[in-house]
Amino acid sequence: MKMKKSTRAIGKEVGKGAEAVLSLQVFSGKKAVCKHRMKKEYRCAALDESIRARRTRNEGKVMREAQSNGVNTPLMLGVDEGGKKIFFTMINGVVLEDKKTVSKKEIQECGVQLGKLHQAGIAHGDFTTSNLMSDGKNVFVIDFGLSEFTKKTEDQATDFLLFYKSVSEEKFKDFLFGYGKIAGERQTKLVLDKMRKILSRGRNA
Ligand SMILES: Nc1ncnc2c1ncn2[C@@H]1O[C@H](COP(=O)(O)OP(=O)(O)O)[C@@H](O)[C@H]1O
Ligand SMILES: [Mg+2]
Repeated sequence: MKMKKSTRAIGKEVGKGAEAVLSLQVFSGKKAVCKHRMKKEYRCAALDESIRARRTRNEGKVMREAQSNGVNTPLMLGVDEGGKKIFFTMINGVVLEDKKTVSKKEIQECGVQLGKLHQAGIAHGDFTTSNLMSDGKNVFVIDFGLSEFTKKTEDQATDFLLFYKSVSEEKFKDFLFGYGKIAGERQTKLVLDKMRKILSRGRNA
């Protein structure tokens, strides 16, 4: 995500994901990011409507809960009536996937944020470097469309696994250090063992 301050006009696109287009809009009189889940032509219209609305409402609910548990996320502002658009505050940063160098501290911070999410009973569901942003000072978790309220080790291990696949072995160790600071050694080992099991299951399948 590249952007210059001077080009940030209302309507300007600030990001694009697999599901949604994000643009700068006005919400309750203030500049906000609007995440608009776009229609998928390959899905039947009624199903498409309900999936988009469900994910948008879910995203709002989880983002609020995460934030009230001390997780760094954009500040959730509201969901539009039709349920396809969600509004939150802008993060002046870049997704870690697009950063040339990601520091050890930033990677550890990813672990801290995931530790907080899991402690709050939330599994992110798509915990990759494309859904983590850094503004140079803090790391923020974004994109809660697939998140769930769950404390199941299996769901937590899925978050580990997606992150594991998106970074190097060395970075994954730094991530584990951050996670351990919040979740403790026992919980970290539990989730890690489960992740290894899932990995080996995949190899033997
Ligand atoms: N609060 C935000 N502030 C600035 N940019 C954002 C914000 N949220 C998302 N983005 C940008 O938009 C992109 C897509 O957002 P995301 O929520 O991941 O959509 P999708 O669900 O389609 O993957 C992100 O990768 C990021 O570049
Ligand atoms: Mg995304």
